[in-house]
Amino acid sequence: MKGKRALVRVDFNVPMKANKILDTRRIEASFETIKTLQKKGMKVILVAHLGDKKASLRTVAIYLSKHFPVKFLTTKILETNTIINLIDELPSETVILLENIRQYPREEKNDPKFSKILATLGDIFVNDAFSVSHREHASVVGVTEYLPSYAGIQLEKEIKTLSKLLDNKKHPFLFILGGAKFSTKIPLINRFIDSADQLIITGAILNSFYKTAGFEVGVSVVEKGYEKEIKSLLSSPKILLPIDVLVLRGPSSKKLLVNEVSRRDKIVDIGPQSSALIAEKIKKSKVVVWNGPTGWYEGGFTLATKILAKAMVDSKAFSVIGGGDTGAVVDKVLKNNKQETKHIFISTGGGATLEYLATGTLPGVKCLK
Ligand code: 3PG
Repeated sequence: MKGKRALVRVDFNVPMKANKILDTRRIEASFETIKTLQKKGMKVILVAHLGDKKASLRTVAIYLSKHFPVKFLTTKILETNTIINLIDELPSETVILLENIRQYPREEKNDPKFSKILATLGDIFVNDAFSVSHREHASVVGVTEYLPSYAGIQLEKEIKTLSKLLDNKKHPFLFILGGAKFSTKIPLINRFIDSADQLIITGAILNSFYKTAGFEVGVSVVEKGYEKEIKSLLSSPKILLPIDVLVLRGPSSKKLLVNEVSRRDKIVDIGPQSSALIAEKIKKSKVVVWNGPTGWYEGGFTLATKILAKAMVDSKAFSVIGGGDTGAVVDKVLKNNKQETKHIFISTGGGATLEYLATGTLPGVKCLK
């Protein structure tokens, strides 16, 4: 491998505000693979994307350069020997980062010609971007047609951990669902309604469950069109809804039992009684899976999410957390804690984790086999 080029797909699609990276975990998750390849004498060329097709990875390149010497390649044309010559001339410790790959329209089309061009940049391909492996794109799937392709260390960690949940035999098995969109969680609920012992609904999706169950939800966010599915789920004894909520009534927040919510209220989180009850359940469980914050994360309503995260630290349950927002809150709680947290795994994936847990594989993983 010495002297060869490794083209490595990473996921640097991190939340940013005014050129500040709000959560660097995905970037750090790639370091082990980069260092391992470099130790083998390989030159590392990173391919990454940002959800915003026009955005630049410059801020990420600056952050990365605190850890490695970095050459940020912003060229618009990948198909030249000039680039390869330039890469070859750089010292082997230099990590090359290509500009946001979604700036090339052929990336998302999984265009074979574009994949082939990308492949010319490496001697081998490594996918270390679990969190984008649900996308059938050129730099995730297409490129594997043209290069010997391998799983990176983070990708392997994700699969090894998440696959344990697919045929879980340990009980009690608690599933906590939060976040904003019920529609994106349906396959996950269907996949785990049998194997989990209890499924607790939180987050904005809870409003739709309350409404269908006949409770007043005031001016809370409700996703329409899923009443039938929700009604059928509500008939399952495994589905649990929180008994109290935190609402905004005008500028002030109030803790209410769910039957006390008025037409003026906006539900923004679950209430303290429910977080305490769920925390107890977490402590008594052997396996916990949690996807999506319990409250309105962007509005800063993260108290209940933090209480549940702390309960996971105190519990011995093998716990898996998916979704960027939940992961960010839980990560902070873990960092402020001195207790052992090896039993907790925070997945780097959002949509990818949901799809992997629901289907048992991902396009970017299948093609490596
Ligand atoms: C994510 O943030 O879930 C991944 O980076 C995939 O991003 P995408 O939803 O823009 O494809």
